[in-house]
Amino acid sequence: MTERSEIEQIFSKELHWIKNENIRTKVLDMWEEALKRGKWKDINDLPFTLLLENPGKLTDHTIRVTNLAKTVYDQRDEKINLDYLIAGALLHDIGKPLEYAMVDGKVVKSEYGKRFRHPVSGALLAQELELPEEIVLIIYAHSHEGDKCERTAESFIVHHCDFIDFHIRKSLVK
Ligand SMILES: [Fe+2]
Repeated sequence: MTERSEIEQIFSKELHWIKNENIRTKVLDMWEEALKRGKWKDINDLPFTLLLENPGKLTDHTIRVTNLAKTVYDQRDEKINLDYLIAGALLHDIGKPLEYAMVDGKVVKSEYGKRFRHPVSGALLAQELELPEEIVLIIYAHSHEGDKCERTAESFIVHHCDFIDFHIRKSLVK
């Protein structure tokens, strides 16, 4: 079982960008809970996506997206909430441990995942664990589900950084 301390270590640099201790704690609560509910023994077993042949790890994708989001933040003068942005980036795919399942050593779509795509399941979990609404929105709106929402600046950043990472991976690695 992946321990909370291991999750904290994997995302340690990015977690330090979050100033609000309560939000930082909730990011770890979310990862712990999602892994538990999805029955994942090892966080490293989670693939970034089922859409590519060599997707790499979900944790690596999460770190890349969060760092891309921080880079965008560093170039802007507007009032962007860094705590929401980083927490939202670290949690944008938190529904994937629920959307995917390990069956006979193979990662497949879970029964729950067939009904609820990860932006929805992730947002529902975030709401249940009482994360700020701004972070719930980042999770819900990071993919196409958000096309019908009024995205916030933080939500736009995570949405685009996610697709930048996906498309680079898709075009160069497959
Ligand atoms: Fe993603």
